[in-house]
Order: sequence, then structure tokens, then C-alpha cells
Amino acid sequence: MIEVRNLTKLYNGKAAVNNISFKVEKGEMFVLLGTSGCGKTTTLKMLNRLIEPDEGTILINGENIKSLQVEQLRRKTGYVIQQTGLFPHYTVEENIKVVPEMLGWQANVMEQKVDELMDLLKLPSEMKKQYPDELSGGQRQRVGLARALAADPPLILLDEPFGALDPVTRQHLQDEFVQLENLLSKTMVMVTHDVGEAVKLADRICLMSEGEIVQMGTAKDLLFNPVNDFVKSFFDSQRFFLEMSVIELEDLADVFPKNLQINGTDPLKFISSEIPLLHFLENHAEKDKTQFAVKNSDSHILYSASRAEILEAYYQKFK
Ligand SMILES: Nc1ncnc2c1ncn2[C@@H]1O[C@H](COP(=O)(O)OP(=O)(O)O)[C@@H](O)[C@H]1O
Ligand SMILES: [Mg+2]
Repeated sequence: MIEVRNLTKLYNGKAAVNNISFKVEKGEMFVLLGTSGCGKTTTLKMLNRLIEPDEGTILINGENIKSLQVEQLRRKTGYVIQQTGLFPHYTVEENIKVVPEMLGWQANVMEQKVDELMDLLKLPSEMKKQYPDELSGGQRQRVGLARALAADPPLILLDEPFGALDPVTRQHLQDEFVQLENLLSKTMVMVTHDVGEAVKLADRICLMSEGEIVQMGTAKDLLFNPVNDFVKSFFDSQRFFLEMSVIELEDLADVFPKNLQINGTDPLKFISSEIPLLHFLENHAEKDKTQFAVKNSDSHILYSASRAEILEAYYQKFK
């Protein structure tokens, strides 16, 4: 859906973004990750022409965005930023309606859309008439998201959308975000400096440094096959937790014997092989003696083991 070729942006002769190229598939969540100042926001803003590149090409659905009218491009693109960018003198409802108004939607259609989005994003309907400064940070961020979704754009750009929130609200909103059905079909490019957020939300991560791409791939690729020490050390502060969250029970199958051994005395429980190791460990007490029969999507049992044996298998394979 998006193809970026040899994109460069200079500020005062220095490259903020230096000759980068990448592709984003339709329906993908593509995350630009990196420390402050590495060129993430500049890259994102070039995708909807808030910033014009000095060199390179951007194709969206095969069309060079330079040949599109800026207004036309922005209507097809939702944009969410950290400080939400809500208009302070507009009510919540008016903020959500900004793009539909621009597109000349009928009043009742807009009403309906506002109700639907507020419901979806768990905003109480009484809030419609309130102003942004009467809301909490988390609520403002939800309104920002509702506004970006209002005209149902196929592409959504998000710049540190959860960055201004306290850790608890942030986690909560991230968890809800991954479950929003409306977003599953959208192509999204998100900027963050938070490795945990990137690993949690991304289909693919694009790790940047000093205006360049260092590595692109799934969280698993970057965690287990880093191309250099920079990539490795970028994840090191939270490595244990991040690895546990990307490893699924099926990834441990090769550690266990193929011929299934079920210990007759312990209780047996079937469990999906697609469960992340972290969730599995969190949801079962350390002393739990249950034998878990790990079953894949074809109902084939890959292995059977206790919680302790599963944790041991992780150490054996990955440490
Ligand atoms: N309008 C600007 N004028 C001059 N330098 C800029 C401007 N915008 C960004 N930069 C510089 O470009 C680099 C990349 O910025 P940015 O894309 O905002 O980084 P990030 O979003 O990764 O924190 C930084 O060194 C920043 O100081
Ligand atoms: Mg930024």
C-alpha cells in the first residue's frame, strides 16, 4: 500500500532522514522505532505531505503522492499525534466531526458516526458537549483516535499516540487498541520510542538511528536476529520481558520429545499453542502441577508439560 523509495529530508544541510526505503503492506501495523531525534516524525509527516522531502518518492496504492492534491491525500489519511491536536474551542463532538464536515456529510449521518465512535472508544455520550480541557489525558487521546477514524480512512498515521499518558492508562489504551475491530483492516504507520509499545503493537518494526534504517522486521527478527550491536542493545533493558511476550508456546515444541508423554496422576488441561509465553506464565501459578497439552490450530497436540517444564524449555532454547 505504501512504498517509500530513497527518501531524504535535509535541515540546514544535515539529513534528518537519510535515503530510506521501505514498503508497508495493506492492513499492516508498521512501527517506526528509535530514540528521540532519529527522524521518525519527519518520516511520518512526509507520508501525508505535512513535510515535503528533498529527495525520493512515496507511492500510496501505486500513486505518487506528489501528483495528488494535498487535501485529497489528507482526507484519505487519519493522523493522530501525542498532544492529540484537538481544537480547544470545539466540543468533543465538533472535534470528531472535523473531517466529515469538510467532506460535506449529512448532519444525521455525522451524528450517527459520532455516537458509533464514542461507543467504540468507550467515551460516555454525555461527553459530546464537553471541551478537550475538561477531559483526562486518556479521554483526549480517545477523542483524537475517534477523530482520525471518523471518515474511515484506509491509512492511519500515529505519532507517539500514547506517549503523553501515565503508564497505567497507556497500557490500558494499548490493550484496547489492539482489539479494535475497525482498526484490523487499516494500514497504520506508528511512531514510538517505546520498545515495549513497538513489540506489542507492530506487525513489523523499522528501527531507525540518525535518519537511517538499521533493521526492519518482526519483533522476533529484531530480538533474536539483530543485525548488529545497536539493535541488540536497543532491546536489552527489557529483553527478558519482550522475548517472553513474542515467544508462543508452539516455539518451544522442538525442545520436547515428539512422542507424547502424559503423566497419569496430574490434572491435564488443553491449551492453545498460539498463547504467548508471558501470558501463559502470568496466568498460571508457579506451583501449578497441571500438565498442559499444547494444541495447535489443527487440534494436534504438540507436547505436554507442566508450567515449570515450559519455563525450563525457554531457558534451554533461548538462553
Ligand atoms: N523544522 C525543523 N528544523 C530543523 N531541524 C529539524 C526540524 N524538524 C526536525 N529537525 C531535526 O531533524 C531531526 C529528526 O527530527 P524528528 O523527525 O522530529 O525526530 P524524532 O521524531 O525521531 O524524535 C532532529 O535532529 C531534529 O532536531
Ligand atoms: Mg517525533
